[in-house]
Amino acid sequence: MPKLTFITAQGESRDVVGRVGDSVMDAGVRNVVPGMFGLCGGALVCVTCHVYVDSDTLAHCAPPEEFELEMLDGTMSERLENSRLSCQIPITDELDGGTFHVPEKNY
Ligand code: FES
Repeated sequence: MPKLTFITAQGESRDVVGRVGDSVMDAGVRNVVPGMFGLCGGALVCVTCHVYVDSDTLAHCAPPEEFELEMLDGTMSERLENSRLSCQIPITDELDGGTFHVPEKNY
């Protein structure tokens, strides 16, 4: 199963094991990563699952749909070029070793 690393806003590194087919948000919330909420359960209405995707990891993520890009305008922490809503990133074997930075404020 793919191993993912979350870096919290406080700089803590948390390694978690993801299930293929789940989302990156699912893995973060299931493992109680600080700052990862996913309040809408992946329905793409809350933006509490915002992450900054490591540059090496970004190429292994499914590209964002138009509505995700629109929703990213409403994130509580600054939107950056590598911002994604983690509920829209399915976990695949190619994501093994991927790194996701949790923003300062997600809720
Ligand atoms: Fe709500 Fe991602 S969990 S938008």
